[in-house]
Amino acid sequence: MELGPGAFHLPHYLSIERQAALLAQCRALADGDVPAYVPVVRGGGKMHVRMLCLGRHWNGKTYRYEPTRSDFDDLPAPPLPEEFRRLAGEIAASAGMSLDADLCILNYYDADGKMGLHQDKDEGPESIEAGLPVVSISIGDTARFLFGGVRRREPIESLLLESGDAFVFGGPARLRYHGVSRIIPGSAPPELGIDGRFNLTFRKY
Ligand code: SIN
Ligand code: MN
Repeated sequence: MELGPGAFHLPHYLSIERQAALLAQCRALADGDVPAYVPVVRGGGKMHVRMLCLGRHWNGKTYRYEPTRSDFDDLPAPPLPEEFRRLAGEIAASAGMSLDADLCILNYYDADGKMGLHQDKDEGPESIEAGLPVVSISIGDTARFLFGGVRRREPIESLLLESGDAFVFGGPARLRYHGVSRIIPGSAPPELGIDGRFNLTFRKY
């Protein structure tokens, strides 16, 4: 399903078995030696997610990537698992694009989780100018996802991202504004046994 040039929603991309396997990995990572945390951003506000960056750390104070979490605990970002990298490449290819991801931002949203409208523009200029896609995967509760234009004032459409859905935005869509206005509690597939939502976004720095 194309939402304009370079933007694709791939509903039910992952089978329930693949969702369960990915969920187990997300949980182990989020509660691992380098745990997910609630970032405090530039203006001093707390984000409404728990975040863990893999491969490279996104610093919420500087909006730059770095090897260690200098805005939080100075721990090194855990490596991006090889199977995560492969999965992101496979999804990009399904949307007719290619991605050799070197980082992933894993976010956990509880029932009150949300994310304001923003652009993903902190990756390297070569990556952004080439329009290398951001690949997103959602597991757990359904999210209301907002997708605007490349300028903040452009109209914003809203769609539901359900468990197992993938979303890809690259090429002319790479800098489109997006966010999550709400999580729908209790909407995850019961077999997964999850409250809340994990979202993984893969990028190449
Ligand atoms: C993000 O833009 O970083 C997350 C998007 C999502 O949770 O679907
Ligand atoms: Mn984003």
